[in-house]
Amino acid sequence: MPTHTATPTWTPASWRDRTARQQPEYPDSAELASVLKHIAKLPPLVTSWEANELRTLLAEAAHGRRFLLQGGDCAERFDECAADILSNRFKVLLQMSLVLVYGLNKPIVRVGRLAGQFAKPRSSSTETRGDTTLPSYRGDIINGIGFSAESRTPDPQRLHTAYNHSASTLNFVRALSEGGFADLNHPEHWQLDFVKHSPLADEYEAIVRSIRESLNFTQTVAEGPIPGLRSVSFYTSHEALLLPYEEVMTRYVEHQEGYYNLGTHFPWIGKRTGHPDEAHVEYMRGLSNPVALKVGPDMTPSMLTGLINRLNPDNEWGKLTLITRMGAQGVGDLLPRLIRAVEAQGAHVLWCCDPMHGNTERTTNGYKTRRFRIILSELEQTFAIHKAEGTHLGGVHFELTGENVTECIGGARGLTENDLAEAYTSHVDPRLNVEQALEMALSIVRLYRNGAAR
Ligand code: PEP
Ligand code: CO
Repeated sequence: MPTHTATPTWTPASWRDRTARQQPEYPDSAELASVLKHIAKLPPLVTSWEANELRTLLAEAAHGRRFLLQGGDCAERFDECAADILSNRFKVLLQMSLVLVYGLNKPIVRVGRLAGQFAKPRSSSTETRGDTTLPSYRGDIINGIGFSAESRTPDPQRLHTAYNHSASTLNFVRALSEGGFADLNHPEHWQLDFVKHSPLADEYEAIVRSIRESLNFTQTVAEGPIPGLRSVSFYTSHEALLLPYEEVMTRYVEHQEGYYNLGTHFPWIGKRTGHPDEAHVEYMRGLSNPVALKVGPDMTPSMLTGLINRLNPDNEWGKLTLITRMGAQGVGDLLPRLIRAVEAQGAHVLWCCDPMHGNTERTTNGYKTRRFRIILSELEQTFAIHKAEGTHLGGVHFELTGENVTECIGGARGLTENDLAEAYTSHVDPRLNVEQALEMALSIVRLYRNGAAR
């Protein structure tokens, strides 16, 4: 197998010479090629200016002057590309960011796991029920969730549908973030009914009241509206997993003299595909977008420093985000070593914590779940470790939804194992519901207030 030193030339297709994990096997490669050819001609979903702007904001987060809030579904689904579901998801992120702006006294960089989060890595390539074995569900961009041969066979036409759903999602989210909906003078637009009856309602309302009073005061003194309050900036991200799709969304941008993935602002490499000499890292290393790498418990310090050299060879600020997802049990042991290696390397990275993916468990009644208390514990430990090491935790990454689901255990309403059956709708990972997500934001604020975070 070629090593990276042997093939320095990068193209959007140079990943094809490497081992590519987690890719589906399409039965009809001619059909796949024809779909890809068509998508390659369709307009981009985002622009290079936006990607560059996000990189600047992430650089500031790396310096501790901003804070990244990245969140959304584990996997988007075609049948959930609907106004209420999308606006609720957007509202949760707005509400969380409002709490964080207020509590951290820093601008928040809002990034959704949306408008393209359609492909999922799986631990097994097949699923068996009774005596039937079929390909695993790999996300709506690849195959269907239904347990039949027809539905589970990878279908190239789904790439088109994914592109179209990403475009509709992005169009709607852009309208929400740029129009009056996101106006900071009217945070009541973002209020989700569920939260009004929540044990957290008073705490959230107090923040909203305080912000409103400050705004009224400032606008009275300024004798007019303050510009910039009517809209919020919002960026998209997804796991760059299905490489043929990512390849055709990668375009050369003449005026920037570089290649950008224009299917999203901020692609990331998942834990299962972060091998330095393999296809996903090869693909990602040539992009001009800001990129992220998931860092799990099996990452060694030398592997990580090698990956950093490969993904950010010019050591640019804001270019590379490391999303650590160690698990609450192992983080205390594993993370300090990685931080020290990165510091010794002098690498400029943004540290972000995903406290969800290292803390997944299965209940006795068969549900995949996560416990609020354990998620928060990984987050608290991660803040404390960075503080002790003299580095900044500049962001957080959550799987969440704007719906009132019952997928994670705990939180203010004290959901238990027995409540999970009530509204468990995820086909992949368990997500924080809107109340648990808001509580997470309030908890981060508490960590700042009591000096546990900086
Ligand atoms: C995810 O973010 O949904 C995911 C699969 O994460 P990881 O690659 O960290 O396991
Ligand atoms: Co997930």
